[in-house]
Amino acid sequence: MNREDNTSIYSNQSSIHGDLAKLVQKHMRSTWKEPTPPHDREVMSHIVALLKAHDGPLILDSFCGTGMSTAKLALQHPKALVIGIDKSADRLRRHVQTQSHNYHLIRGNCEHIWAQLASAKVKCAQHYLLYPNPWPKKAHLKRRIHGHPSFPLLEQLGGTIEVRSNWKIYVDEFAVAAQLLGLDTQVKSLSATDPMTLFERKYSANSENLWVCKAAAA
Ligand SMILES: C[S@@+](CC[C@H](N)C(=O)[O-])C[C@H]1O[C@@H](n2cnc3c(N)ncnc32)[C@H](O)[C@@H]1O
Repeated sequence: MNREDNTSIYSNQSSIHGDLAKLVQKHMRSTWKEPTPPHDREVMSHIVALLKAHDGPLILDSFCGTGMSTAKLALQHPKALVIGIDKSADRLRRHVQTQSHNYHLIRGNCEHIWAQLASAKVKCAQHYLLYPNPWPKKAHLKRRIHGHPSFPLLEQLGGTIEVRSNWKIYVDEFAVAAQLLGLDTQVKSLSATDPMTLFERKYSANSENLWVCKAAAA
């Protein structure tokens, strides 16, 4: 395992995974059909109720951790409904509540919630995926967002997608995969003077290089 400069990521991958395009194309040819766990079905009823009661755009903050970014996004976009999703009850419990009333934190599995939102034809205006687990071992490609069979759902949900990571290969792979979905992409380095998330704050404090991929319909 090697460590790239200015990152805490150790990986046996030194460039974009050779199987990426083939894997994404395979997932694009099929529909992800894993049965939705009961908890994620209940969560969807809650989201539908929130959507019905709200008149503005929807912003998703998938893998939101403690929800720091969810609260920040809510403050930046007062007319939007901002929904943060994370599977960890422990992380969500550590959320520091703010004054904004336009955000909600939901415990659930992002992939199952995306599938239900997409089948309900819900569209979001913006979709943030900030510092997802990188799964840096070469053998873990299928665990990365862009290697998972649910990946094509991101295109169906619409909006501007923003992925951030301290591993450049991750955002480069995401960009290549998003282009295969027909999206326009842009990868840039990021200087986080006002960190959006706890992980971003930690990486910035360690002077790690940070990267962002923005993807949107062409
Ligand atoms: C590295 S943390 C980043 C959290 C936050 N975005 C930040 O930057 O501080 C990744 C988060 O993804 C969550 N997670 C991992 N897989 C998930 C899944 N399939 N559905 C929902 N949350 C998931 C974990 O619980 C964890 O909080």
